[in-house]
Amino acid sequence: MANDRRGFLEATAKLCGFTITGAVTIPALGPLIHPLLADSVEFDAEETALGPLERFPIGVPVKVPITANRRDGWTTTRGVPIGAVYVIRGDNEAYRVLSTTCPHLGCAVAASNKGFNCPCHGATFTLDGQRRGDDNPSPRNMDPMEHTVRDGVLYCRFVAYRPGEEKRLPVRSTG
Ligand code: FES
Repeated sequence: MANDRRGFLEATAKLCGFTITGAVTIPALGPLIHPLLADSVEFDAEETALGPLERFPIGVPVKVPITANRRDGWTTTRGVPIGAVYVIRGDNEAYRVLSTTCPHLGCAVAASNKGFNCPCHGATFTLDGQRRGDDNPSPRNMDPMEHTVRDGVLYCRFVAYRPGEEKRLPVRSTG
C-alpha cells in the first residue's frame, strides 16, 4: 500500500515537472520555430525609389526594375528582382506607374511611344495602360502602382497581382 502511494506521488511529481518545463520551454521556442511555420518565402513591401524626375521624359515609357529583400526561413537575401514597372510622365508633372507584367498570363509587355503590347498572345494597351480592342486576351487593364514624389524623386509601392483574373488580387508570396 505504501509502495502504491509512493509510486503515485512520484508519477504526479514527474507530471508536474513536465508540465512546468513545457510551459516555460514551448513559448521560448516560438521565435525559433516561427520561420518554419510561416509562408516559405516572403518579400518586403517597402517603397521603391524609381529615380529622380529628370530621368523620365514626357510621353516615353521608362522601364525600372524592382527589387526587394527576400526572407526564406531564417535567411534574408537583399536586392532580389521581383518585377518591373513602366513610368510614363505626362504633361503637368503627372506620372503613371504600371507593372510590366501582362495581366493575361504574366508575360512581360513591351513598350513604344504609342502604348504597350504583349508578345505572348497579342494583348495591347494604350500609353495609360487601358486595354485596346474587344478581342483583347487580357482580362483587365495594366496594373497601376501607388506612387508619390518626394524631394524630386519618384517612389512606388510595388504589388504583384495574379494574372488571368478580372479583379486585381495581390499575390502574397512569389518566387
Ligand atoms: S500573357 Fe500577355 S497576352 Fe497572354
